Amino acid sequence: MQVEVKHVPVLFDAVMAALQPRRGGRYLDCTVGSGGHTAGLLERCAPEGRVLGTDADPDAIARVRARLGDHPCLTLRQAWLDEVPALARALGFVPLDGILIDLGLSSDQLEDAARGFSFQREGPLDMRFDPTQGVPASAWLDRVDRLTLARVLREYGEVPNALRVAEAIWRARPIRTTTQLRDVVSGVMRARSRRIHPATLVFQALRIAVNDELRRLREALPQLMALLVPGGRIAVIAFHSLEDRIVKHTFRMASRAGSGDGAAMAEDALPPMRLLTPKPITPSPQEIALNPRARSARLRVAERLALEANAEAC
Ligand SMILES: C[S@@+](CC[C@H](N)C(=O)[O-])C[C@H]1O[C@@H](n2cnc3c(N)ncnc32)[C@H](O)[C@@H]1O
Repeated sequence: MQVEVKHVPVLFDAVMAALQPRRGGRYLDCTVGSGGHTAGLLERCAPEGRVLGTDADPDAIARVRARLGDHPCLTLRQAWLDEVPALARALGFVPLDGILIDLGLSSDQLEDAARGFSFQREGPLDMRFDPTQGVPASAWLDRVDRLTLARVLREYGEVPNALRVAEAIWRARPIRTTTQLRDVVSGVMRARSRRIHPATLVFQALRIAVNDELRRLREALPQLMALLVPGGRIAVIAFHSLEDRIVKHTFRMASRAGSGDGAAMAEDALPPMRLLTPKPITPSPQEIALNPRARSARLRVAERLALEANAEAC
């Protein structure tokens, strides 16, 4: 079956260079999206290798199944990031040679007005990655108090004057559509740059809250790293500083565990890792010109060390 895919995978070559997928290897793609990176992993590890592809969004799973699903080396399952470690173990899909997490939204999600992710398209204010679970953003707004809303806008969107913006949104409720919310925000926030609409930050903040994205990432990372074979690698692409900070901090603490640094004693739950990207890898100007959605991407990579390496370092 032919499926139309709009999403262009970000930092594709850098991800393949980082994970070095090899024939016969076992790989986990925790955010299959539209299947771009998944296809790259499959091509390189087949025919003896295996890829487990997961995503919270049932539409993403269906899209990738339609695109690649009859590939004999691919297993697809719907799962939130923090559910993936238990799923991989339950499927016997461990240990792993490589793991990819490509956070945020795919272009296919963003451009589907019915999903409510974009303020440029009139649609229901939903924003759930999994529309069968939890509450849509409109209902979340109905229930939230002013101060919590202000905190979410400030912490997850770094929205300037968050209290004033929260107040305006709170008073305008019920808000049922994406464009309704955009217009309320435009009425109270001034554009700080021509490139970024003020609603961008508010939509980002609500999406993170509705999907509980940061908690899931924080909880999943150490458990996922523990599933790697020594020498196995994990690559994470983040699209905003909040996600990137969690990845950077977790990798740094795990690399201290790897070096036997006393400062990491409290982090002994983290498997020992070697940091392969002291600075994040970012897209080239050419990639950004071809795919402007890549512009805020930051890729960080870490490699699992053998436990003995940790003991030696101590
Ligand atoms: C940028 S897209 C991935 C694109 C993919 N790498 C490709 O090449 O097509 C991000 C995907 O991650 C999923 N996602 C984001 N946060 C998630 C989470 N906490 N748990 C599970 N899936 C998540 C989204 O549903 C989306 O499909």
